[in-house]
Amino acid sequence: MAADDIEAFDSVLDAIGGTPLIRLARIAPRVYVKAEFLNPGGSVKDRAALAMVLDAERRGALGPGGLIVEGTSGNTGIGLAIVAAQRGYRLTVVVPDKTSREKTAILRAYGAEVVVTPGAVPREDPGHVRRAAARIAAERGGWLADQYDNPANPAAHRETTGPEIWRQTRGRITHFVAGIGTGGTVSGAGAYLKEASGGRVRVIGADPEHSVYSGGDGSPYLVESIGHYRHPDTREDLWPRSYHRDVVDHVEAVGDRESILTAQRLAREEGLLLGASAGTAVAAALKVAAGPDDLVVVVVPDSGRSYLSKYYDDDWLGPLGLPVGQPGEATVADVLGPLPPPAPGLPLTASVGEALTLADRHPGGTLWPVGPRASGPPSVAEVTGALDVGELRLLVRAGAARTADPIAGYVTGPLPAIGIGESRPAAAARLGTHPAAWIVVDGRVAGSVHKGQL
Ligand SMILES: Cc1ncc(COP(=O)(O)O)c(C=O)c1O
Repeated sequence: MAADDIEAFDSVLDAIGGTPLIRLARIAPRVYVKAEFLNPGGSVKDRAALAMVLDAERRGALGPGGLIVEGTSGNTGIGLAIVAAQRGYRLTVVVPDKTSREKTAILRAYGAEVVVTPGAVPREDPGHVRRAAARIAAERGGWLADQYDNPANPAAHRETTGPEIWRQTRGRITHFVAGIGTGGTVSGAGAYLKEASGGRVRVIGADPEHSVYSGGDGSPYLVESIGHYRHPDTREDLWPRSYHRDVVDHVEAVGDRESILTAQRLAREEGLLLGASAGTAVAAALKVAAGPDDLVVVVVPDSGRSYLSKYYDDDWLGPLGLPVGQPGEATVADVLGPLPPPAPGLPLTASVGEALTLADRHPGGTLWPVGPRASGPPSVAEVTGALDVGELRLLVRAGAARTADPIAGYVTGPLPAIGIGESRPAAAARLGTHPAAWIVVDGRVAGSVHKGQL
């Protein structure tokens, strides 16, 4: 207990919330960011974590020395780890494999048990992050925090984030922008701001392009912690109950490239080192805030320190076909010149005849990406094999393949991925002894390259 005359918080838990608003003085002076990376756990999720634990204690769902279990992209786990340390709980977190290694390292540093599970699986799969967390909680008699469906998550933002922003802007806020993960932030703070302003404040959800929240097909995107992925084999796609769609006036989709470049720009031009979901939210804000009287508040959920190995690392960006620093040498784009329009993905269930008909409509490369979805261009994360349609056509002509055959028998294994902006030597090194590689632009397969071409 801090002595009365000491200017100090009683514990780290009292340092949660009360974050400053910071104007984007150089990039967009009417836009203010709510600096959630200044929470003790480094993210907006400290608020929900504390609120969910206090609520569980009040309801008697979590007893002294108990076990907390949660499925999380990392930040909620970090928030829970801080609360667990202070209040004497054990913690197990289940994270999808796309989670940055910095976040899993932080979780372990706080003493949490970390279980990594594949992120790109159907909702019904026992390994799905939410299912795995629920199973572990049931098996070990733990309490599942369940930020996706726990009303204490949006309530935390209605009670703290929203009122703070209203006070800080003296009620002059016109637009509120937040990324949608569980939806807790945008729903809770958005509802408060709407009520306080008599419905005047416009609430905007920021979402990665391809995420289902903004009408995408649910195929993979690169920004962590926001959006809603949907595996093509998911039968019933349930949205989190923490996301209250009626509060949100508009959902703005932002591409991965724009999110990441916006985050990088915020570091270089504003001195704000942030995660890519902050880039998504700020990019969305820059699109919606037009009027001279607008006062836009954007939640920036966490720091770029958690993603130094991703959005700020050329070795991660390059193979995904995202911009890297000046290579100083010829790039793959320089060598290949303009690419033909990208082919859509070819589902493994297609027949030889269907594949050849589709290929006729998309002249260009003869190597086609095969994966679970027919939409395209397909995410490189979902491409499982390659079909050489040129060779297949020859086989059909020679009578060695029939149009009714499934393509599965003609699909070859995975190919390496080469980013369009990588230097030619780096790309050639990755190609190695493979006969061909995918050319990747913004995480999606945009074509293929054969060994002799590089
Ligand atoms: C970095 C980051 N951005 C955004 C969000 C989304 O917040 P919410 O779950 O409240 O929608 C999260 C949630 O985990 C996050 O970790």
